[in-house]
Amino acid sequence: MDVPSTPNVQTQHTVMSHSREETTALGEALGRRLQAGDVVVLRGTLGAGKTVLTQGIGRGLGVREAVISPTFTLLREYYSGRLPLYHVDAYRLAGPAEAHTFGLDEYLYGDGVTVVEWGERVEPLLPPDRLEIELVYGARGERQITLTAAGLHYAELLRGLDLPTPPTSSQIGDEEAR
Ligand SMILES: Nc1ncnc2c1ncn2[C@@H]1O[C@H](COP(=O)(O)OP(=O)(O)OP(=O)(O)O)[C@@H](O)[C@H]1O
Ligand SMILES: [Mg+2]
Repeated sequence: MDVPSTPNVQTQHTVMSHSREETTALGEALGRRLQAGDVVVLRGTLGAGKTVLTQGIGRGLGVREAVISPTFTLLREYYSGRLPLYHVDAYRLAGPAEAHTFGLDEYLYGDGVTVVEWGERVEPLLPPDRLEIELVYGARGERQITLTAAGLHYAELLRGLDLPTPPTSSQIGDEEAR
């Protein structure tokens, strides 16, 4: 995956989650560290755990209401935590043009934390610096969760999470150069 960012550095960690609770705990640790304006993009097939992870992020931010899937509403906003949480589900969006009409960029460049499920549908609107999290089903129903920081700010954020696996860093474009 090539995510353009400034500077051109990606830091990546992969962790395994064996239960909904472990995924929630990862989200919670992340939610405690997120800052105003941060953007988290979640990838993964239907039922991979994107909403479960967002529920953890909400908990880490101190959101008191239940975080529920915005599948039919496209966006849900929560203001009871340390920072506003904007939870977007782009699954039903026709494309970037529709996202534009509902003002997605105002959330993305606003002062809250924006979490986007199915962000690939609105790729052109996403800021180049962001945290991408991909969830993949394992053979026994566990989830392999890969966190990719594009840009220094998110690399710092990942470092602060103290994940069990060591980070791997790469210059974007290395692949082509080799
Ligand atoms: N390790 C795990 N991490 C997360 N969820 C898990 C895990 N193991 C099982 N589950 C279950 O998988 C489901 C994940 O559902 P969730 O709504 O979070 O998926 P999603 O990626 O948001 O799907 P959608 O694309 O439909 O929005 C939940 O029912 C959860 O209990
Ligand atoms: Mg979901």
